[in-house]
Amino acid sequence: MKVSIIGAGNVGATTAQRLAELDIADVMMLDVVEGLAQGKALDIAQAAPVMGYNVDVAGTNDYRDISSSDIVIVTAGIARKPGMDRDDLLATNIKITREVCSHIQEQTPDAIIMTVTNPLDVTTYAAVKCMQQERGRVFGMSGLLDSSRFATFIAKEIGCNVRDVNAMVLGGHGDSMIPLPEYTTVSGIPLTKMMEKETIDRLVQRTVNAGAEIVGYLKTGSAFYAPSAAIAIMTEAILKDTKKIVPASVYLDGEYGLRDICLGVPVKIGKNGAEEIIELKLTKEQEQALKQSAEDVHQSILKI
Ligand code: APR
Repeated sequence: MKVSIIGAGNVGATTAQRLAELDIADVMMLDVVEGLAQGKALDIAQAAPVMGYNVDVAGTNDYRDISSSDIVIVTAGIARKPGMDRDDLLATNIKITREVCSHIQEQTPDAIIMTVTNPLDVTTYAAVKCMQQERGRVFGMSGLLDSSRFATFIAKEIGCNVRDVNAMVLGGHGDSMIPLPEYTTVSGIPLTKMMEKETIDRLVQRTVNAGAEIVGYLKTGSAFYAPSAAIAIMTEAILKDTKKIVPASVYLDGEYGLRDICLGVPVKIGKNGAEEIIELKLTKEQEQALKQSAEDVHQSILKI
């Protein structure tokens, strides 16, 4: 199996490291910056004898090296700085996404594409439109990251084992994302039975701001440890065909009453990518929030 990662920055290189440590596929990293992907790949490869993985990790500036990939993960682009929201990245990152997708189309047209570059739902939409691929074979990683952040805050609040928390976040990967307490459980117990509404609201708000909270600390970039963890687990789900159900940004064609848009919804991940969209029964309030989130993404799509 071969996974290519476009962009060898913080997210791309950390993803390469995580994939190597999972020992599930050869990894090819590509970046526009001369030597960057090669240097980081060599460093990761030299950890193999110590860590005990046995996959090939390489770097390149040449798109021909991504041919015959099973999956291509797109992290190329600029990252957020303090005071920016994900939409401030729009023009630059859409241009980069389109350029990257045209190379993927040329070199490895059958690969499954996972977009990561922000604003996520819009870059995913651009990738869907650029690639001549079946729906579901091009999707964006966002909801698993947002759910993981929500689960982290819940476990900290309760003081419980984080592995017992199963959280669900829908909608766009931006300020209008929708953490769903009704579909979030702790060892099977609905969150709504474990906490007061005010506490849940506070954790929901922290989840919505989680990316910005990290940007505020880092000042020169955005999160990459949790994003790369979510990418690695979704990649593993494809390579091992695990049918894991996670929220991801997919092209909607009538599901949830929405059309011609990419938005985060629960999907089943297997060897063909996002193989099935799971439609949850939403309350009127949640339905309205999802519509609003779709409208926000739609406004950004109109700009591109
Ligand atoms: N082709 C290939 N690589 C590119 C291109 C391009 N056209 N344009 C930029 N890059 C590379 C940069 O050289 C850089 O190494 O993409 C990399 C981006 O890395 P970082 O700046 O470290 O950003 P990172 O934190 O990895 O975030 C990447 O993921 O989570 C999102 O919002 C984040 O959109 C951002 C993306």
